[in-house]
Amino acid sequence: MRKVGQTPKRGNKVFKIAQDQRTMQAILTSMVDGVIVLDINACIIHANKAAENVFLVREGGLLARHLKDISEDYEITDMISEVLSTGKENFTETVINPSTQIFRVHAVPVKDRNGCVEGAIAVFHDVTDARNFDQIRSEFVGNVSHELRTPLTSIKGFVETLLDGAMEDSDTCRRFLSIIDAETNRLTRLIEDLLTLSSIESQEQINCLKPVCMIRSIRSVMNIFGPQISEKCLHVEFIYPNPLPLIQADEDLLGQVLINLLDNAIKYTPPQGKIFIHCRKRDSRIVTTVRDTGMGIPHESLPRVFERFYRVDKARSRNQGGTGLGLSIVKHIVESHGGEVFVDSEIGKGSTFGVSFLVI
Ligand SMILES: Nc1ncnc2c1ncn2[C@@H]1O[C@H](COP(=O)(O)OP(=O)(O)O)[C@@H](O)[C@H]1O
Ligand SMILES: [Mg+2]
Repeated sequence: MRKVGQTPKRGNKVFKIAQDQRTMQAILTSMVDGVIVLDINACIIHANKAAENVFLVREGGLLARHLKDISEDYEITDMISEVLSTGKENFTETVINPSTQIFRVHAVPVKDRNGCVEGAIAVFHDVTDARNFDQIRSEFVGNVSHELRTPLTSIKGFVETLLDGAMEDSDTCRRFLSIIDAETNRLTRLIEDLLTLSSIESQEQINCLKPVCMIRSIRSVMNIFGPQISEKCLHVEFIYPNPLPLIQADEDLLGQVLINLLDNAIKYTPPQGKIFIHCRKRDSRIVTTVRDTGMGIPHESLPRVFERFYRVDKARSRNQGGTGLGLSIVKHIVESHGGEVFVDSEIGKGSTFGVSFLVI
């Protein structure tokens, strides 16, 4: 009777242990962070799937291997050896090859009942995106400061020269004041572009989507640029099928896209050049291209023109009053509408910029 009664109790315990192990296994397997468990000799006795991905090894490929065999990174091996010898937790941040991802590695000692170290657990947390984001942010702050400082330095220089006596000569005074005026306008444009970028970035989704007529939007932007077009004697042609389906867009943001594309086409095309604006329906999208016969963009710069502050020729862009933010605003707006941007160009022959928007 006793024996019969004992068996289920022991069975329950064994069952409980097996269940605990399965639960532990399931937790480790489902973890995004890599986890390795090492014995006192820094030999791996357990590793989850994420840890195998960190070191790019096949399933079970980490087991029974010494830490030094899987990583040539002294920062990690030294740090874990220290944890094993001192019994104190530690962490480091390092690039792990061959994956080249940046990991924050946190190691804690495993101690027995008497407090003696018998191993260690190391957790690998991928911080690549966070670090890349930090770098992009600090580059952005650096660029903005530089862009703000340049016109300010110029304004300060001209004001000082005027105060030093140049203002007595009315021609010089007028010339300097008009430079100051242009620089102030550039600062204003820069601030406006930065505010536009930050407002689009803070909106996860565009809120004011409604049916918009692309043809009407393009016509009104062409009207805005009327004076510049005639001043440079440019030939501007707008080609579209009639009827053209309406698109789903925020009308003001669409206007900004078209203004930036046409502004560039006009700025970077010499007098008497040509600009062709094409609209066509392709599947569920309306594709709009702006082609010019301007200076063109070198092949190696094409992938970068949509980056913030990227300009092929910094001096030329500045002279034309550019902020270097126009195309990054275009890309942001179009992509947040679910559309795409593209560019093709040949140096000396011209450029074609394209954007697509979903039809309603
Ligand atoms: N139509 C174009 N033809 C030639 N180069 C262009 C054209 N559009 C843009 N670019 C190049 O791409 C750069 C980035 O454009 P953008 O973001 O609008 O800044 P910018 O304020 O300088 O116009 C420009 O400085 C210019 O070098
Ligand atoms: Mg521009």
